[in-house]
Amino acid sequence: MSDPRPIGIFDSGMGGLTVMRALRDRLPNENFIYLGDTARLPYGTKSGDTVTRYAVQAARALIARDIKMLVVACNTAASVALPILQTALEPLPVIGVIAPGAAAAVAAAKEGPIAVIATEGTVKGGAYVRAIQALSPRMPVVQQAAPLLVPLAEEGLVRGEIARLAVERYLKPLLATLPRPRALVLGCTHFPALKEMIASVAGPDVTLVDSAQTTALSVARMLAEQGLLNDAPGGSALFLATDAPDRFANVGEIFLGSPIDPGSVEVVDL
Ligand code: DGL
Repeated sequence: MSDPRPIGIFDSGMGGLTVMRALRDRLPNENFIYLGDTARLPYGTKSGDTVTRYAVQAARALIARDIKMLVVACNTAASVALPILQTALEPLPVIGVIAPGAAAAVAAAKEGPIAVIATEGTVKGGAYVRAIQALSPRMPVVQQAAPLLVPLAEEGLVRGEIARLAVERYLKPLLATLPRPRALVLGCTHFPALKEMIASVAGPDVTLVDSAQTTALSVARMLAEQGLLNDAPGGSALFLATDAPDRFANVGEIFLGSPIDPGSVEVVDL
């Protein structure tokens, strides 16, 4: 049986389009609805209670559009609100970016340690540490909030001196941890845009874990297990934003890797 209903994805803004890009590459027949809460971005500096409230509102808006699965693409939202969303929305399958990223890091790091860079909210909440240590209880995990990388990615400043200095500022102390981390989790939607720079600063002995890629793999598996794949030709994408559709389209291209027509971005109120 084939299920053409869309997969709902939400993020605080445009960064989650890195997850949508990975999903589209892996699941080209699927239809997608992406919601960016651009009116209330960023989530990374807000309290867990506020982010949870926003996440529930975003999920409801997507459910009203008959989605078959919800992907919480925002690391900050997934780190504080995933269990609440999973319980509240049952039986709808809900997946976040934390657990797939943690599993890939554990697989890559052998005895570790694992380093995580993320927003302030994700680091404070400790969700990556818990998810990693649930799989490998004695795994050492070191974390670093890297907030400046978010606006840099949004400005498209992903190469050159400014990007290098910012990445070095966050990574050098983190990677000086002894023993040296074996894997580095890009625990924020925006960081895959800076992957080349991060890889060049981290060096070849540190494996980068891109949550977008690993989440796409988990979504594909979950859809297959639950008989929810769309076998018919599809591949449509609908974009919703809570504010500034033009900026959503312009900046979104950096993360999606393909053009977004500003006229196709629908403004919604949560
Ligand atoms: N989407 C957020 C995350 O992955 C980054 C941007 C924000 O702070 O809202 O954590």
